[in-house]
Amino acid sequence: MNAKVDRMTRIESLISEMTLSEKLGQLTMTACGYAVTGPTIAGDSTEAIKAGTIGSLLNLVGADHIRQMQDLAVAHSRLKIPLLIALDVIHGLRTIFPIPLAEAAMFDREGWERTAREAAHEAAADGIALTFAPMLDVARDPRWGRIAEGPGEDPWLASEIARAKVRGFQGAQLSDRDALAACAKHYCGYGAVTAGRDYASTDVSERTLQEVHLPAFRAALEAGVASVMPAFTDLAGIPMTANRALLRERLRGQYGFDGVIISDYNAIGELLRHGVAADLTEAATLALNAGVDIDMMSNAYRTGLPAALERGWVQIAQIDQAVHRVLTLKTRLGLFDDPYRRGSVPESVAALSERRRFARQIGARSVVMLQNVRATLPLPGSIQRLCVAGPLADAAAEMGGCWCPAARTDTHVSVLQGLRAALPEVAISHAPGVAINGDDRSQIEAALEQCERAEAIVLCLGEAASMSGEAASRSDLDLPGLQRGFAQAVFESASTHDIPVIVVLFSGRPLIVPWLFERADAVLAAWFLGTEAGNAIADLLTGAQSPSARSPVSWPRSMGQVPVFFAQRPSGRPASANDHYTSKYLDAPNEPLINFGHGLTYGQFRYSNLRVAPEAVRESDTLGIEVDLANVGSHEAEETVFLFAHDKLASVSRPLLELKGFRRIHLHPGQSGTVRLSMPASELCFPGVDLERVFEPGEVEILVGPSAERTRLLAQTIVLKT
Ligand code: GLC
Repeated sequence: MNAKVDRMTRIESLISEMTLSEKLGQLTMTACGYAVTGPTIAGDSTEAIKAGTIGSLLNLVGADHIRQMQDLAVAHSRLKIPLLIALDVIHGLRTIFPIPLAEAAMFDREGWERTAREAAHEAAADGIALTFAPMLDVARDPRWGRIAEGPGEDPWLASEIARAKVRGFQGAQLSDRDALAACAKHYCGYGAVTAGRDYASTDVSERTLQEVHLPAFRAALEAGVASVMPAFTDLAGIPMTANRALLRERLRGQYGFDGVIISDYNAIGELLRHGVAADLTEAATLALNAGVDIDMMSNAYRTGLPAALERGWVQIAQIDQAVHRVLTLKTRLGLFDDPYRRGSVPESVAALSERRRFARQIGARSVVMLQNVRATLPLPGSIQRLCVAGPLADAAAEMGGCWCPAARTDTHVSVLQGLRAALPEVAISHAPGVAINGDDRSQIEAALEQCERAEAIVLCLGEAASMSGEAASRSDLDLPGLQRGFAQAVFESASTHDIPVIVVLFSGRPLIVPWLFERADAVLAAWFLGTEAGNAIADLLTGAQSPSARSPVSWPRSMGQVPVFFAQRPSGRPASANDHYTSKYLDAPNEPLINFGHGLTYGQFRYSNLRVAPEAVRESDTLGIEVDLANVGSHEAEETVFLFAHDKLASVSRPLLELKGFRRIHLHPGQSGTVRLSMPASELCFPGVDLERVFEPGEVEILVGPSAERTRLLAQTIVLKT
């Protein structure tokens, strides 16, 4: 018999031996807090594992702790079914890489894949077998703190990231010692929460679901993602955890997903607060009927499904199907063959130091240089006195950003530390000035005096790590605390003494700080870069690396513009200064302060000679796109070229721009080159009037350029033919 048939037989015979409580145990995931004395199971004793009534654990780290728990299941339970150990390994376990929004700015598939691979190495070395990543929620409202965890505002970019991350986490095959099962989350539409407030209701059209919120999940499925996590939120009144139409019918039925669906933390229990279940029996019934396999932390399956069975609300066949999917995943992970396969090979010192070197390189490639007037950066080699000011100047503990559950922040490198290491001959003073938040003004005067004695000021401002990520929505996206006042005092003093001010902005989202761009000589969006943050930033400030990242989100001028994103649909009355009755504000431009894709380098690139062939294509054809670039600057640099399309006339109003590709090119000063991209014409299909996929004849604009700023794009019109 082949391995798959053999595996199925083994699983079916195991299920035939299981009691109901053992079956429900395999559908139960419990959090594990660990104290000095060893792991304590939140809400459950270790007896439950020995009794086979827990099948998976989350929030447990450390090879010893994990082995201890695995022993309870494998050595002491009746059927010896191994535990599935899971954790949010979002951007690293102990070596922390940039937050996902920062990594999205790299526009580098290989980089995205490799950081996931490196994180999988570290996590599997602990014994972890599943990560609750990648988070694929497209977000266009920066008030939402979880924009930090995701791929930014564009569904095509999100899909590219989805593929790379699933490949990276899962590796060649799930049974490999360093493979992590990935989990595409949070299905779906979570990024559209009302008013950017986390966990709030979402309500988007079927068209927006298909065009914006579902593509990345479909890409993850195509890449073979092992699990999916429904969002906490309701979608038009139906909580995703109970959403039979989108889970059982769409995800499993239409998209063919046969992996494991894991609820979010207590999400089944929260169906009571959603007002769609009166008790855990009803909640468990809704979730199981919708297709949710594992109940994370609500205990609804163990306590509610027995009664649901008795009442005929669910059938034992459904429970067996869910158990079958869970046991199939454990089998694919190799847990039955060797439950200790992961966690048995500690990472070598050489591997860890190589990983930190890589993290430094990734950090530098995730920083977006938003502004650099008078070529302030890179710092001149002659500099002797530098002041590193602001509350994030020496804030190593903040550099990891959100979701670093197991990292020791004392191993993170601050900007001050990074610069002092990179410039040992330079006198580098430190002037925090104010705290990230709070109203203590006592250090401002001293800080200003420090700044006045410097030849250049690196002003490190922004959010604390806790101000983005889950449950971290903000209604005011200016700098918190007294930072704005302090920064303006620094600008004032610096302009008096003709000292350049370089702002390094730390945040989990685009901030709304137009006043800052008016005064700063240079602005780097450093997001949160992880363990090697300070060294990565120093590499950019000194010119050891040229900034190359591009913003994966638009930066609004004001909250009044939100949501602002490049893929807007046209209006019947597009903005016109000459016509009052058009789509515009009386008090602000429509365009964002910073466009999607914006990012400066130390080079200066000229685009010319766009060629698109063939000029008429069928759906099965492939378009070839070429554009010439010249680096007319004085520094070598890497430019990211974007490919957009605009379907000007179709049966449905199409977005003004749709991202369809990118390509990077590295050029030395004075060097020229040609960027070549190809695009299957089928990429120009879209959901037609009846939401069925169509390829419509007619003209389409193909556009190429450095960002979504329309005025900087070269365009050529082609014809689609059937
Ligand atoms: C959290 C998050 C989810 C995470 C899970 C486990 O509440 O919503 O993204 O994977 O719980 O930590």
